[in-house]
Amino acid sequence: METLELIDKVHDEDRQGEPFAPIAIEPNIYKKKFYIESYGCAMNFADSEIVASILSNEGFGATKNFEEADLVLVNTCSIREKAEATVRKRLTEFKKAKQAKRGMLVGILGCMAERLKGKLLEEEKLVDLVIGPDAYRTLPALIQDAESGQKGVNVLLSREETYGDIAPIRLDSNGVNSFVSIMRGCNNMCSFCVVPFTRGRERSRDAFSIINECKDLFDNGYREVTLLGQNVDSYYWVDEQKDMVVTFAKLLEMVANISPLLRVRFSTSHPKDITDEVLFTMARYENICKYIHLPVQSGSTRMLQLMNRTYTREWYMAKVDRIREIMPDCSITSDIIAGFCTETEEDHQDTLSIIEYSKYDMSYMFFYSERPGTLAARRFTDDIPLEVKKRRLNEIVKLQNRLSQHSNFADIGKTFKVLIEGNSKKSENDWAGKSSQNKVVVFPKASYNVNKGDYVNVKITSATGATLLGEIVE
Ligand code: SAH
Ligand code: SF4
Ligand code: F3S
Repeated sequence: METLELIDKVHDEDRQGEPFAPIAIEPNIYKKKFYIESYGCAMNFADSEIVASILSNEGFGATKNFEEADLVLVNTCSIREKAEATVRKRLTEFKKAKQAKRGMLVGILGCMAERLKGKLLEEEKLVDLVIGPDAYRTLPALIQDAESGQKGVNVLLSREETYGDIAPIRLDSNGVNSFVSIMRGCNNMCSFCVVPFTRGRERSRDAFSIINECKDLFDNGYREVTLLGQNVDSYYWVDEQKDMVVTFAKLLEMVANISPLLRVRFSTSHPKDITDEVLFTMARYENICKYIHLPVQSGSTRMLQLMNRTYTREWYMAKVDRIREIMPDCSITSDIIAGFCTETEEDHQDTLSIIEYSKYDMSYMFFYSERPGTLAARRFTDDIPLEVKKRRLNEIVKLQNRLSQHSNFADIGKTFKVLIEGNSKKSENDWAGKSSQNKVVVFPKASYNVNKGDYVNVKITSATGATLLGEIVE
């Protein structure tokens, strides 16, 4: 496995997951340089690692400095209007850099490429290359086309592509945790969501290629993998002889069995699809992290119906109860949208009360942003005034902050097994790592002979809303 040093800009607002710290330096053996920036979800980040691998086979090495790059790529997100606006601004900066460096190519990858297709190239002349999420294998040919002055566009979606055979090059990795894509696309059609249009149909990756990638990571010192998909619980893979069916529960078990020292996480679970089998598998394996991201979106059954989420408020609450029954120490987090079409104050109160009921340890919270082409954009009016959306979102954020703080304070006095990820952001004298519940734990290095990638037991002595602080105990 290769690791390259690379800067990868990640916008927290639109990203689910923690940004990585840069490590590892490779000698510069490459003919040309590429620079890549990723926006959006962890899946985009994982895709950038596939793209890096494809480019490296073509003689491209990574650079941190876009001004010296021969190829500048932006892996983009369309989930909310703001995500697209940020990228557009960035593209105008790259256009300037291009004018200063002859021969530089600028390309757009990911969901915005898929959504806008040739528009950014033909009408707005912002980029030279447009490549959708299923077309990365054609990147070398498209670069050649663009170098000879032709249009480099491929936004074809596929029903099969999983890049299962491509060994990703880890970007900006801390060498301890890594994302592993297990599926692509989404069949759910939540009415607010652009993902089914930008990522296409759902398909699951060959289970053995997933296991091999995880084993390879473990052999290279990694101690945590996060299995990625828009809806991991609908993972389903049948081998060619049709004598082996792998469900998500089975896959979890296969990855957990690689080593008790390899932690397994996953994201995202759709509440309608997470099964008892998955919950019992999680409970059975100590190394499957006790952490479920279970986006609720809204606490109002009427809203959930308009959102096409296919569960009710009560159904969701019963799922939370079931998780707590099977794994009392499991943390639960959520995604919430404020101000979806026709949302009343009463619907909003239902959202606040379901947050309180679920006692989320953390949530990603957004106000509704209409996306062209989605079911909601075609069927409903985006009728909640921006200031109302913002006020409701504020109330949600305030409540969640209180719950996060409460959850962290309740951990004071408890001891957690922590996987060390590196120095804490604030001090080289402190380690930072995560508990199984995905909480950040910071503690003094003191005189203990431990290192990044080691597990230690940490007793929590104090807490803030975002971090647990403690000390190593034997
Ligand atoms: N597949 C995941 C979520 C992917 S998108 C799931 O189903 O849970 C991440 C989050 O962005 C969503 O959970 C939702 O809360 C938010 N989101 C998606 N579309 C949005 C929109 N149009 N406006 C505001 N937030 C949106
Ligand atoms: Fe979007 Fe729904 Fe699919 Fe998640 S499950 S990606 S919210 S359509
Ligand atoms: Fe954004 Fe596409 Fe992910 S829209 S959230 S980058 S799947």
